[in-house]
Amino acid sequence: MPSRSLENRFLNENPTHMIRPRRNRRTPAIRSMVRETTLCPADFILPMFFHEDASDCPIASMPGVTRWSLDSLIREAGEAYAIGIPAIVLFPKIEEALKSPFAEESANDEGLVPRAIRALKAAYPGLCVITDVALDPYNSDGHDGLVQRDARGELHILNDETVAILCQQALCHARAGADIVAPSDMMDGRVAAIREALDEENFTQVSILAYTAKYASAFYGPFRGALDSAPKDGDKKTYQMDPANAREAIRETLLDEAEGADMLMVKPAGLYLDIIAKVRETSTLPIAAYQVSGEYLMLKNAAAGGWLDEKAVVLESLLAIKRAGADLILTYYAKQACGWLSE
Ligand code: PBG
Repeated sequence: MPSRSLENRFLNENPTHMIRPRRNRRTPAIRSMVRETTLCPADFILPMFFHEDASDCPIASMPGVTRWSLDSLIREAGEAYAIGIPAIVLFPKIEEALKSPFAEESANDEGLVPRAIRALKAAYPGLCVITDVALDPYNSDGHDGLVQRDARGELHILNDETVAILCQQALCHARAGADIVAPSDMMDGRVAAIREALDEENFTQVSILAYTAKYASAFYGPFRGALDSAPKDGDKKTYQMDPANAREAIRETLLDEAEGADMLMVKPAGLYLDIIAKVRETSTLPIAAYQVSGEYLMLKNAAAGGWLDEKAVVLESLLAIKRAGADLILTYYAKQACGWLSE
């Protein structure tokens, strides 16, 4: 038999049975009808940096991101809320003099974070205020937990002692009116302990967004520059997860769910889409993913250099995170993305 070209076989031999996926891509209207994933402002959570100073400070390691004064924080949060962003997460820069080995300032009811929560909830009662629960901004060692040195000078992050302080920190945020507390410290057992502490004080309505799969990622670098919160010594590899591990994320998911988490988080986001998808398959809880400072910086710098189309790549990166299975995305691009989506 003479050999026939592919074209002949498909177009001439069996014309009525040719399957053409391109028909579903033909016009903008049809594409919009068959689109599986869409982004909207309610998908976003805006991380916000702030400090005690009365002036705003551009963050050198994160172009386009500002560390706000308390007054500006309220104003900027209000603007985000007005364009449809339902929630913000608070990241304070704590003055050096207030940092200590036991991070006492983390549970001070008159501290920067509780004052910010009260002011935010007074100005915008409907805005969902999320707080970061971890010791790194308050700890003079810059670690998420308490640090102990053994006789050989080796560093240990104390788990249960840290969890006790995290419970105090979560209670302090709840008393000030936080809607959701988000433990980002990766200590074992902290979700159950925080849930119990909250319930005992009748804060049964306060939710826990657990950083379930938080990896020891080099992409947090610019964030630590924003808050001066880099560890003074050692790294975070004994508590944050090894980027090589995926099954371990399932283990953490099962634990956080059993411990009473209301929502789960995967962090970073863009390089961890497989993890988002696995957590999505494992749990029925809402899943958040954090597009972290290093991801932001890569997109920002490539766009600033004229190499990439910022709007297109940012929206694509966010869409991919949602497609992988995230319900919510923490992103420094939240406001800009809302602007682009409404164009
Ligand atoms: C600390 C915390 C970090 C981030 C959020 N919470 C840094 C770290 O774990 O070292 C990183 C966020 C980012 O890079 O955008 N508890």
